[in-house]
Amino acid sequence: MVSLPGSPATSLLQVLFLGLSTFAPPACAQLQLHTPAGLTRLRAVEGAEVVLPAWYTYRGETTLAQPPLEVLTLMWFLEQSGKDLKQVLAYINGVTTSQPGASLVYAMPSRNVSLRLQGLQEKDSGSYRCSLNVQDRQGKSRGHSSKTLTLDVLIPPAPPSCHLLGVPRVGTNVTLSCQSPRSKPIAQYEWERSPPSAEVFFAPVLDTIRGSLSLKNLSASMSGVYICKAYNEVGSAHCNVTLEVSTGPGAAVVAGAVVGTLIGLGLLAGLVLLYQRQGKALEEPANDIKEDAIAPRTLPWPKGSDTISKNGTLSSVTSSPALRPPQHPSRTGASTPSPSLRALTPISSPGGVVSSALSPKRAVPVMVPAQTQSGSLV
Ligand SMILES: *[C@@H]1O[C@H](CO)[C@@H](O)[C@H](O)[C@H]1NC(C)=O
Ligand SMILES: *[C@@H]1O[C@H](CO)[C@@H](O)[C@H](O)[C@H]1NC(C)=O
Ligand SMILES: *[C@@H]1O[C@H](CO)[C@@H](O)[C@H](O)[C@H]1NC(C)=O
Ligand SMILES: *[C@@H]1O[C@H](CO)[C@@H](O)[C@H](O)[C@H]1NC(C)=O
Repeated sequence: MVSLPGSPATSLLQVLFLGLSTFAPPACAQLQLHTPAGLTRLRAVEGAEVVLPAWYTYRGETTLAQPPLEVLTLMWFLEQSGKDLKQVLAYINGVTTSQPGASLVYAMPSRNVSLRLQGLQEKDSGSYRCSLNVQDRQGKSRGHSSKTLTLDVLIPPAPPSCHLLGVPRVGTNVTLSCQSPRSKPIAQYEWERSPPSAEVFFAPVLDTIRGSLSLKNLSASMSGVYICKAYNEVGSAHCNVTLEVSTGPGAAVVAGAVVGTLIGLGLLAGLVLLYQRQGKALEEPANDIKEDAIAPRTLPWPKGSDTISKNGTLSSVTSSPALRPPQHPSRTGASTPSPSLRALTPISSPGGVVSSALSPKRAVPVMVPAQTQSGSLV
């Protein structure tokens, strides 16, 4: 036994390695799947196509000649973090099955098993694993191998939207903002002023990450068209905003005047409404008083009762039983007041029409006291 120098851990590793290499069939070690040297990550643009290159050889072979007696099982899988392994393409027993947009670059049988992906979408990003298993015609394994290539599907910036934040007046500050709704990797921004007074802006007035351009102490000469470019490594898009620096009274002042006028008008309207309501409210009690006054007036009440009711309602109520005895003879004697009172109860009566016209909602409640009054009089 060979004495292995080093720690027990390294000895264990070496033993394991030796063990694996001895247990594995010699043919397995010979099959090799290749990807271009140094290539582990690919980038492609959304909507475009990409080829994930892969091919296999046997150790010691120099040509890609296809041995006639090979049975190939080939699979391309997509691995995405947090998602199930997805089979993109399979070539089994001479039959190819694939997801839409996925195909092999070379017709099988071929030792070049490169995968082509067309009409790329952002969701096609992930790790593509090529897994290969070769047998001879007798069903004896000639080896197994796999390789992984990572694909990033990039998105050029979508057309950004440009905005002017602030009121452009001489001496004030404004910010021009620019944002692209979609881009991968995240877009960067630059602002420039279009000719004739072309100008390119840099930090600190320009924030390349946020897309904002800060313009301070505005002057009339700074008026013009400002163009924003949103860009990443696969594309760019533009928007623009026109800056018009005003010298007269600022838009804020004008806006303030307009708002002030509107508030004034609103207050005036409110006052008018309030006044009208109060006028109605004053009319209504007057009407009630009038109706209350009608009832006694139609009755041939003694003048004393009038004076009592004028002194106070409470005294008139307490005095009313005392006044009843004289009322009874007068009511039975003079038949004119009671029909007139009964005529007041239906709404069709002249009194009812007047009260309903003045306060439609209170017409009925007003009539009820009149009725009870007449009832108490009977
Ligand atoms: C296999 O095909 C891919 C794509 O066409 C190519 O890039 C690669 O070089 C090919 N491999 C060999 C060994 O020819
Ligand atoms: C404009 O920016 C300058 C410099 O940052 C600042 O001193 C000034 O107060 C700003 N003016 C207004 C109106 O915000
Ligand atoms: C603003 O600009 C005017 C001239 O355009 C200059 O006189 C003034 O000093 C500037 N103010 C500030 C705060 O930079
Ligand atoms: C500004 O954008 C509009 C469309 O949004 C475009 O028609 C116009 O040509 C642009 N102006 C400049 C100076 O880029």
